[in-house]
Amino acid sequence: MMIRPMQSNDHGELVRLWSSFPGNAVTGADSLGEFEAFLTKNGSFCFTACGNDEVVGSVMAGSDGRRGYIYHLAVRADHQRKGIGSALMRRVEDALFMAGLEKIHLFIFSDNPAVSFYGKAGWHVRNDITVMSRVLRSTEGNGPGT
Ligand SMILES: CC(C)(COP(=O)(O)OP(=O)(O)OC[C@H]1O[C@@H](n2cnc3c(N)ncnc32)[C@H](O)[C@@H]1OP(=O)(O)O)[C@@H](O)C(=O)NCCC(=O)NCCS
Repeated sequence: MMIRPMQSNDHGELVRLWSSFPGNAVTGADSLGEFEAFLTKNGSFCFTACGNDEVVGSVMAGSDGRRGYIYHLAVRADHQRKGIGSALMRRVEDALFMAGLEKIHLFIFSDNPAVSFYGKAGWHVRNDITVMSRVLRSTEGNGPGT
């Protein structure tokens, strides 16, 4: 297994990976065009885990210059519990640290078992913040995402 910078031509395999999880978080922001635009801005914070030339995991992060945000941490079901998720998080956290960021955030549905994963990786749940959202553009057929 190796972790390398995410590439534009990973898109098809990544969407298949993200779509494989219940309540899949594939949204309009995952169209090829938006994916490529995100990589152009944040490519140094996006990583793909590969084994035997296949995509087995992913993590993306973006920085607005003030805070960093993690997206699409995922490991293919048949490769989970082998440390790949932890390795992806170490890689992206190191990249965000090296970029000078002080604090990073992520959004996760409260009932996702991955909350335990993040807890073990040093993240903590914020009870002092309420996340508020406003839909500016809804894309039919996609999951709700965060
Ligand atoms: C979350 C996820 C990326 C973890 O990937 P992984 O490669 O299996 O994680 P690791 O092997 O590095 O796990 C490290 C530790 O985290 C904990 N952990 C991992 N998955 C867990 C789960 N589903 N429930 C509880 N604890 C978990 C365990 O303590 C594990 O150590 P152990 O295997 O020695 O017990 C993976 O389960 C996944 O892809 N989930 C679906 C996508 C998702 O929900 N992503 C988060 C969106 S915000």
